[in-house]
Amino acid sequence: MNDNNREIVEVMECMPYGLYIVGSTGEGGPNGMMGDWVTQVSFKPRLISAAIEIDAHTLANIRATGNFTLNFLSEGLEGMNLARQFAAPYKASKIGGPAALGVRSKLAPNAYRSSREGCPILHAAMAWLECRAIQFVPVGDHTLVIGQVTDGEMKSERTPLTSSYTGWTYSG
Ligand SMILES: Cc1cc2nc3c(=O)[nH]c(=O)nc-3n(C[C@H](O)[C@H](O)[C@H](O)COP(=O)(O)O)c2cc1C
Repeated sequence: MNDNNREIVEVMECMPYGLYIVGSTGEGGPNGMMGDWVTQVSFKPRLISAAIEIDAHTLANIRATGNFTLNFLSEGLEGMNLARQFAAPYKASKIGGPAALGVRSKLAPNAYRSSREGCPILHAAMAWLECRAIQFVPVGDHTLVIGQVTDGEMKSERTPLTSSYTGWTYSG
């Protein structure tokens, strides 16, 4: 099997996704991570899956607390500029930076409030869900976190940010 086939990569890169800020909390306080490998996987109960890199700080947080939020940003420059801030890792060492560079707080204190379970809900989010992690499934270089939806709010009827709109790709 040649999984580096250019054509396969091209097709996978154009798979459309929603773009979310995955909120979590734990050591170092609240954190946000850009994530798009997120989808509903069951009606009853309402379950969501999110594939998260095994070395993401977010995954460690979710394992520690059992909870996470999904923040929906809306289409437009403001949503894109906000989303960009959450693509960088919490720990510089995750992308080969010196550990001395330490950690990065991606959340301005006035940019969010805490959910019932203490996960960040961005003021700028058009909608959000809170989930209780019920399963962690190792899948290749990611871990599939299965979360049961426990809370949520539709704050404004806008169009959610997607990879088709931003043109950003995490796949391939
Ligand atoms: C467009 C885009 C989509 C992404 N989607 C995911 C994703 O679904 N899962 C994931 O683990 N990382 C994803 N990432 C990478 C994370 O945002 C990145 O690794 C982040 O640094 C992890 O943050 P943390 O270490 O603070 O948890 C994506 C990045 C971009 C730019």
